[in-house]
Amino acid sequence: MIVAIDGPAGAGKSTISRMLADRCGCTYLDTGAMYRTVTLLAMEQGIAASAYDELGMLSRNLEIGFQPGPGGVPRVFAGCREVTEEIRTQEVTRGVSEVSAHAGVRTAMVEKQRLCAASGNVVVDGRDIGTVVFPAAEVKIFLTASVAERARRRRLELEGKGVTVSQDKMEEEIAARDDYDSSREVAPLRAADDAIILDTTDMNIDQVVERVAEIVDGAD
Ligand code: DC
Repeated sequence: MIVAIDGPAGAGKSTISRMLADRCGCTYLDTGAMYRTVTLLAMEQGIAASAYDELGMLSRNLEIGFQPGPGGVPRVFAGCREVTEEIRTQEVTRGVSEVSAHAGVRTAMVEKQRLCAASGNVVVDGRDIGTVVFPAAEVKIFLTASVAERARRRRLELEGKGVTVSQDKMEEEIAARDDYDSSREVAPLRAADDAIILDTTDMNIDQVVERVAEIVDGAD
């Protein structure tokens, strides 16, 4: 079974997907981590976000791997190198929307995502999972929440890592990323027509996991 969890930044996709995968005994695939890895390597190699061909080649040649990590958070590898922490910096976060808008990058990543999910039961989170990557997924959920709430969640997450960002700045960044991800030409962020839309603004994590698990159980 494939469970597709899409939605904008900060909607809780990765936390919910991880917990759901754990509960259902599925594998969790974090596709945002893949686009973040491409972005990190492009930055390090001095490849501009506008260098279409180079980004496509980097993406095709990239060997991205996942391994189980502490607290259920997957460790992410580019070849043998672990990049789990580096792909979460503010610098990468600010650059990833532009890099992930390129068709060549997306084609390469979608191919890898389909391979990763080829065997077994998988919970996949991203922006285009229910619309493009797995249009026949058995379960499609679109998680969302208000910009203010998503910014608040991201801010707290960053504070946990010792990074302080104001609520206003966070809201501005989240809104800009939403706008970029939703308006790009290739595979824009949007809910699939057959997705169940879940607004989590007033829900806590346990309530969301409970609701999503009910939906998955109902689809079995
Ligand atoms: O979920 P995230 O914040 O880690 O995703 C980082 C970026 O990657 C996001 O701004 C858009 C892009 N992305 C995408 O274009 N398609 C996906 N399936 C997953 C992420």
